[in-house]
Amino acid sequence: MDTAFPPAIAEIERRAAALGFDMNSGRKVGQLLASLAASKPCGQVLELGTGCGLGAAWLLSGMDADAKLVTVDTDDGPQGIARDVLGGDDRVSFVLEDGGKVLEQTAPSSFDLIFADAWPGKFSHLDEALAALRPGGIYLVDDLLPQLNWPDGHQTNVDAYLADLKAREGFAFTQMDWATGVAMLVRR
Ligand SMILES: C[S@@+](CC[C@H](N)C(=O)[O-])C[C@H]1O[C@@H](n2cnc3c(N)ncnc32)[C@H](O)[C@@H]1O
Repeated sequence: MDTAFPPAIAEIERRAAALGFDMNSGRKVGQLLASLAASKPCGQVLELGTGCGLGAAWLLSGMDADAKLVTVDTDDGPQGIARDVLGGDDRVSFVLEDGGKVLEQTAPSSFDLIFADAWPGKFSHLDEALAALRPGGIYLVDDLLPQLNWPDGHQTNVDAYLADLKAREGFAFTQMDWATGVAMLVRR
């Protein structure tokens, strides 16, 4: 499959626009997700915050036939679009649940790649998300550069979060001015 542009993307973007959903991952982050997913043969992948499924479509485009993706959201509206468009792919499971609850119930060392794209797993439940990574596992986040839709005071949250990520022992940290601003931890 051509990971430069998974075929589901255009359909998801069209339906997300009709829903008025404006929190989709962009294509630069999508390409990064596909590349990271491709680095994990038979990988177990977790996405926190399905949205309408753009991140999931990119992840699936990079995953091999034996890899599995679990994607979690609390809102059946956008996630319903993702399920409609991507649900025919038996590598993906959709979970309609709070991401924090899912992380609390996740056994340590369960995932090879986590895309934390909701509040839980990022600004809450970070310990649980990082514990869920296997050695060599990758934790990826975006939306770290100032965005027009940030609530007042959110820069303070982001600054504290980035300082926390950088200080974590047992991980390699990197931060990139790519797309909306990306950071990555890789578990040693
Ligand atoms: C930035 S969007 C996700 C975009 C998607 N990952 C993509 O790549 O296009 C954030 C999503 O998190 C969901 N969300 C909000 N609170 C949540 C929670 N507590 N647990 C899980 N998902 C949550 C929202 O419904 C929204 O769909």
